[in-house]
Amino acid sequence: MSPANTSSLGRDAGLECLQDSLLDSLQKVETLLHEDANAFPLIGSVSKYILDSGGKRIRPMLVLLIARYFGELTRQHLSLAAAVESLHTASLLHDDVLDDATVRRGRASVNRRWGNITSVLMGDYFHTKTLRLLVKLEQPEVLNIISKATTCLIEGEIMQFDSKNNWAAGEPQYLDIIRKKTGVLFQAAAQAAAVVAEASIDIETSLKKFGMHFGLGYQLVDDLLDYTGLPGQLGKTTGNDLAEGKVTLPLIYALSQNKIDRSRLAEAVNTQDEEELAHAVKAVRDSGGLEYTRNMIKREREKARDCLNELVSNDSRSKLAELSDFALMRSI
Ligand code: FPP
Ligand code: MG
Repeated sequence: MSPANTSSLGRDAGLECLQDSLLDSLQKVETLLHEDANAFPLIGSVSKYILDSGGKRIRPMLVLLIARYFGELTRQHLSLAAAVESLHTASLLHDDVLDDATVRRGRASVNRRWGNITSVLMGDYFHTKTLRLLVKLEQPEVLNIISKATTCLIEGEIMQFDSKNNWAAGEPQYLDIIRKKTGVLFQAAAQAAAVVAEASIDIETSLKKFGMHFGLGYQLVDDLLDYTGLPGQLGKTTGNDLAEGKVTLPLIYALSQNKIDRSRLAEAVNTQDEEELAHAVKAVRDSGGLEYTRNMIKREREKARDCLNELVSNDSRSKLAELSDFALMRSI
């Protein structure tokens, strides 16, 4: 048995059937993700810790299902699937430092357990692992798609950082940020999988658009759950966005409806007064902002479905729809 097996996968009742149908390939992806981490014990320990923390491997599954849609699953698709997950892992290791997170996937985040320096360097480690996996593909177009996506991820994070505590930030600015920080990676994964399969330009475009709607919906769900989720269910702390001054859609809606007093909100975030923060979260919940966000998630899900309908119907197309439904219905 390889050092990794699929027991490291985050299992979820809604996802198990799909994971089971891809088990053999997912196991190979796990092996690629875990290998080459033994240059120094700390690298091995942190790498194993983050990879075995119960990630659901949604992005690798997206790549693998697209590969299957076209027929035989190739070695290239396995490397791409691992590369995309490795990039996602890198981004979480950096993100938890930026957000000063304490919990990720139900346990102490790497920054919490080993400190910020280790988390940043391990993020760099996984970022360069992504590059090594992609170089092996010998497909400059794929390298181009994923490296452009990485730039977008960083742009999205910088834009988000810059808009912290900006209570005047509106929906277009928010959508721009989540498109870049989350949508683009789903889009790039889907497009690159189509390129590796030598898809026609029309199908590549449909899959690319599917990836973007899927990714946008995914981040909207994440931002909704920050107001509605139970920590045990999410594997991370909730109610953080508002306290951190992160202006996401539920809050943008509440502000647009004048359901929240801006100066009281600014003061609450400034002083971190728990009662005042709880009052603001309740005001967002009561404002209709959650319903508004849920409606946008539904629309992204429908648009994702429409893109899939541009593909011929087969078992993998149905599974792609199942995957996006699973991810976008967690909150509804
Ligand atoms: C999670 O958002 C974070 C992202 C979607 C992207 C983070 C990207 C970076 C930090 C840039 C990474 C750079 C390289 C080179 C890899 P969130 O904080 O809203 O979600 P969370 O609640 O899961 O933390
Ligand atoms: Mg975060």
